[in-house]
Amino acid sequence: MSGSGSNLQALIDATTSPDFGAQVVAVGADRPGIEALDRAERHGIDTFCLPLADFDDRVAWDVALADEVASHAPDLIVLAGFMKLTGPAFLALFGGRTVNTHPALSPSFPGMHAPRDALEHGVKITGATLFVVDQGMDTGPIVAQVAVPVLPDDDESTLHERIKVSERQMLVDWVGRMARENFTLTDRTLTFGES
Ligand code: GRF
Repeated sequence: MSGSGSNLQALIDATTSPDFGAQVVAVGADRPGIEALDRAERHGIDTFCLPLADFDDRVAWDVALADEVASHAPDLIVLAGFMKLTGPAFLALFGGRTVNTHPALSPSFPGMHAPRDALEHGVKITGATLFVVDQGMDTGPIVAQVAVPVLPDDDESTLHERIKVSERQMLVDWVGRMARENFTLTDRTLTFGES
């Protein structure tokens, strides 16, 4: 997590229903002192923080991240709001079962400033994408997408907040489904219901 953690909060809230079928076993961040870590602590969830600056290089950071995540034995990893690319060590352990959300309709507007880029481009519809993390920037197989209108008076903030309302619901719906049902990933297609 890097930010305010509203996606995390939506997931935590969903897990209070036994029907959701999943629990949040740990929350990790690459920055200390962020709201997402406070949210997790308030709910009694294990937390960890691995700032990139504490490591010699990205390779060492990636290995430490993989080790730390493995110590919590998750079935599924959600990088909601995590603004760093994971590396080969992480993907070797968790590739195919790590998802992230992106506040745009992929493959449009990858990167850190998707709502701003969508506004500047003048699109009338944007949205959010849940995808399986691969080595690229917002390039992985698409699990789900939701469309969100761009309104005439939008600025970056109002647009991003509107996207986030739909993004949170998409995240909860599809992470729940991935937790409850078997799924297989073949090339760029995620299929539910196969053993
Ligand atoms: C989300 O829109 C996410 O897709 C983007 O940053 C935002 C994080 O929001 N990478 P939050 O921290 O979950 O509130």
